[in-house]
Amino acid sequence: MKTGRDKKDNARSVARGSESAKDAPRRKPSMFPRALIDKFKKIPTPFYYYDTALLRKTLEAMRTASKKYDTEVHYALKANANVKILKIIRGYGFGADCVSGNEVRRAIECGFLPSLVVFAGVGKSDEEITHALKKNIGCFNCESTGEIKVINALANKLNKKATISIRINPNVNAHTHQYITTGLEENKFGINVWELPDVLHVIAQCRNINLTGLHFHIGSQVTDIAPFKSLCLKVNELQQWFESRHIYLTSINIGGGLGIDYYNPDKNAVPDFDGYLGVFMRFLNLRRGQTLHCEPGRALIAQCGTLVSRVLFVKNGRQANFIILDAGMTELIRPALYQSYHKIENLTGTKRNSIVSYDVTGPICESSDCFGKAIDLPVTERGDILIIRSAGAYGESMALDYNLRDRAKSFMSTEI
Ligand code: LLP
Repeated sequence: MKTGRDKKDNARSVARGSESAKDAPRRKPSMFPRALIDKFKKIPTPFYYYDTALLRKTLEAMRTASKKYDTEVHYALKANANVKILKIIRGYGFGADCVSGNEVRRAIECGFLPSLVVFAGVGKSDEEITHALKKNIGCFNCESTGEIKVINALANKLNKKATISIRINPNVNAHTHQYITTGLEENKFGINVWELPDVLHVIAQCRNINLTGLHFHIGSQVTDIAPFKSLCLKVNELQQWFESRHIYLTSINIGGGLGIDYYNPDKNAVPDFDGYLGVFMRFLNLRRGQTLHCEPGRALIAQCGTLVSRVLFVKNGRQANFIILDAGMTELIRPALYQSYHKIENLTGTKRNSIVSYDVTGPICESSDCFGKAIDLPVTERGDILIIRSAGAYGESMALDYNLRDRAKSFMSTEI
């Protein structure tokens, strides 16, 4: 029987435990008790379901680690900008990492302190910069000399001084999927190290700019500590370079990127934040008075989210058996875009001991609209409820209305 486990998948290397695909469907899904499944059955599908208790547990774990290591956390809104979720996250005292004017707007509307908002992005428009200046955000993470000049000019018009960090492209390989690697010279992000003399020359002429720090982000779904260690060594070198030019910085922002375990969402529901921040404490030579900042997205929000869907049809073919769900790449594009693995469970199939290999697909007119190939599931029928796990990050926030699809609703566990 095909197991579907031989696919080349970057997420696979991160699995901390191994799991037999044959055993997986027969196990009782621990997170989804009967009463909850009965509630799911009454709600029109597809929808996103967020487990608030797990979200709070995750946020609490991050808060504890960040207090221990004296680190300021800015939640990356791009992972999930759902208002209900943002209101919970801001309650933990975290700031926000934004990448568009609308994210800055949303963060502030949801109660994040403007002084704790940082604004990255390679292409900030004049309107977005002006809005952020007017809101007195904490820091612009600048990605080019052109951007620094424009921020300076717009700040001058408003008679303000903009606090900036230089986003440096450290040329460190994050060893993740090529589409979510950001810290290599071939990527468009940040300012290259060899450009720094020119950057300092430009900043020296900008009277409305206050350079306070350095910013980095090497990539996403990073599950090995080695790239983070390499980043620390690069930052240490760069700090010396700046100090040799008598530039003393007060903030070091290491970005986001901490990965999660897509294979074992129940066993490893809460990432090891202590271990992650501990790496930076060990290898980064922070100067007296310097603050460490980080920007986690996925690690805070992925595991508490589930995409809930119904089976529309089952088609048995010669090459494969297809499950056609009412959710598709429009609700969760990660498998189509990055060939990412997400665990799939049938919550209502009754023949739990008869296992069949299925390609689990959506209704969209694209062959890439597939959540997983050769997935072993109990015999599945029209109307069964299937769930796609670890969908809290980059699911709802990357939703599309392609094929004129309606936007799927979302429900917090406290609401249903
Ligand atoms: N900070 C910056 C500057 C970023 O560019 C990102 C993500 C983050 C923080 C948050 O990274 P996280 O902790 O979530 O890894 N759509 C892709 C992920 C793209 C991430 C882009 N930047 C996915 O579904 O895997």
